[in-house]
Amino acid sequence: MTHASAEMSAYYAARAPYYDAVYLKPERRDDIAFLASHLPSRLKARAVLEVACGTGFWTQHIAPATRSMTATDGTAEPLQFARLRPGTSEVTFLLADAYTLPAQLGTFDGAFAGLWLSHVPISAREVFLVSLHSRLAPGARVILIDNNLAQLRDFPISESDAEGNTYQLRPLRDGSVQKVLKNFPSKAELDTLLTPHARRIEHHDLDNFWLCEYELGGP
Ligand SMILES: C[S@@+](CC[C@H](N)C(=O)[O-])C[C@H]1O[C@@H](n2cnc3c(N)ncnc32)[C@H](O)[C@@H]1O
Repeated sequence: MTHASAEMSAYYAARAPYYDAVYLKPERRDDIAFLASHLPSRLKARAVLEVACGTGFWTQHIAPATRSMTATDGTAEPLQFARLRPGTSEVTFLLADAYTLPAQLGTFDGAFAGLWLSHVPISAREVFLVSLHSRLAPGARVILIDNNLAQLRDFPISESDAEGNTYQLRPLRDGSVQKVLKNFPSKAELDTLLTPHARRIEHHDLDNFWLCEYELGGP
């Protein structure tokens, strides 16, 4: 069973042509420069699976350092832009639902998901992790990055639900407004979620993003 949301996919399909505007915000410049060198250095020479790669902004930075890279997303439209990124000619781009990553993808010793966990409902986090980990070898290095609370300056929380998920109202350029699930897990929440699966959990705080890295535990 999948927790994929048709509304979320429709939102990212509509945003795909101008999604990269989020990476032009001046206040994010330093963080992006750090991540553009840190992420490839931590995933160097690994076979890397990227989940929810979107338009491939991080893929283009990570791929040249890897042994091989498969970048997946649950929505077709952003993948069309990702395939045009420089430095990704060796990357395999595939449509795949993060909650049900198929065995045909293969087995990887590295994984990356950028700005994805924040869109996973709290009750589906474990499902996503089990899906991701099913594609990874023991000892694989996993890196998750996401927006920290600074993002609320752009999009305040408009409502929350009974399980504690928070939502934002996001305007699209066609004038419509989409309600989007966007969570901001704390380090303690991440530790509680990851500890049963992971060794050596590390957190890094940037001005606009958090980064969490861990090593997948053995069977
Ligand atoms: C905030 S974007 C992140 C894109 C990219 N990782 C980045 O950091 O720029 C979230 C992405 O999740 C994708 N997505 C939504 N539902 C998904 C699902 N069930 N499985 C995989 N990807 C999904 C969307 O299509 C979108 O590209």
